[in-house]
Amino acid sequence: MNQRFKPAETFRRDFTFRNSDEAVLRFPFPFPEDSYMYSVNIEPHTPGGPTAAFQAAFDVDEHYVAECAERAIVLEEDPGRCKVLPHMMAAQWDTLELIMESLARDYPQDFSLTKEGTNWVWENRPLGIKQSFVFGDAKTLPCEPFEYITRQAQGDFTLQDQREDNLFVDGGMVTTQADWSLEFNIGMTFHEWHGPVPLAHQLGVFDRALKFLMRLQYGQPVRRLNWTMTINPRLDTSPENYPLWGTDRTTLTPENVAEKAFLRVELQTLFRLPRSNAILFGIRCYLLSVGDIARVEKWGKRLHRVLRDLPTELQDYKGLTRYRQTVVDYLAPLDDGAMLPSGI
Ligand code: HEM
Repeated sequence: MNQRFKPAETFRRDFTFRNSDEAVLRFPFPFPEDSYMYSVNIEPHTPGGPTAAFQAAFDVDEHYVAECAERAIVLEEDPGRCKVLPHMMAAQWDTLELIMESLARDYPQDFSLTKEGTNWVWENRPLGIKQSFVFGDAKTLPCEPFEYITRQAQGDFTLQDQREDNLFVDGGMVTTQADWSLEFNIGMTFHEWHGPVPLAHQLGVFDRALKFLMRLQYGQPVRRLNWTMTINPRLDTSPENYPLWGTDRTTLTPENVAEKAFLRVELQTLFRLPRSNAILFGIRCYLLSVGDIARVEKWGKRLHRVLRDLPTELQDYKGLTRYRQTVVDYLAPLDDGAMLPSGI
């Protein structure tokens, strides 16, 4: 087992998840300004960016093995968290190819892919997997290709079919989501599945984003950051399991806020797929406790300002209403009010 992984971490019950100092510093902090409002914050997904989290097509960090194990637990309890509509088989193979090629290129010490025609061999050393299969023949894999490869990747994934001048979410592997349901959304259009988001529709954010995505080119992926907060380092904050985590929000106190409240950042990536012309949407989730954020001076100050001034509609939508003030009160003494430069 590669020493850089922490296989025994948990994201439920005893919550043994922790970030090393290195993981703290590579966190994709999402606020370039002191205040936050929705925008079409899309940029090319090229290597580079403010921290190491932006270097690879699909970022693999110290939580990789533990997150794959957590995904397997969720799927065992609820296999419906992975669902792909039958017309998306070409997109399934596109996804498998993209993720395998990217991981093998970006992390050659951990993954390799060898091809002889359609006879492929995939090796995933952190998970101890070696799989020979025929590309295009689903019977040669233990499960369908999209499920097979997304079980071996961090973060959620959805597949969007492009037709009728719109995008339809026609598949996904969704086990680490911030309170939305694949089962509920599957088959919806771009504006339909974004229906519950406040203010952004009126600001024209979704009209512009959809126009942009319809023209997304193969080989030119893009990314954006989204964020919310979660109590405890829990990946599975799904509506399906709301009874397990909803009441966590009532447990935050000034004494435990530093360890128990987490900024939850999604590094979202969008790839045009070559055969299907579908779009793969990756939602890679990073958790960092408020106490760890406070260790980076400018992040602590900025998070304080963003949360203090967050519009009520966003507080409510993101589920922060009950505990936002406790976090603001914890961060306030760290903020001397000095001007912070734009950027992260
Ligand atoms: C929220 C899916 C692309 C902006 C959401 C939600 C879902 C979702 C399921 C939660 C809605 C709910 O509350 O039920 C997707 C998918 C995308 C995509 C599958 C792939 C095409 C984008 C893009 C933008 C965007 C390109 C760019 C503006 C937002 C915003 C929110 C949101 C601002 C609210 C997030 C929050 O406050 O936490 N999206 N989205 N989405 N999405 Fe997207």
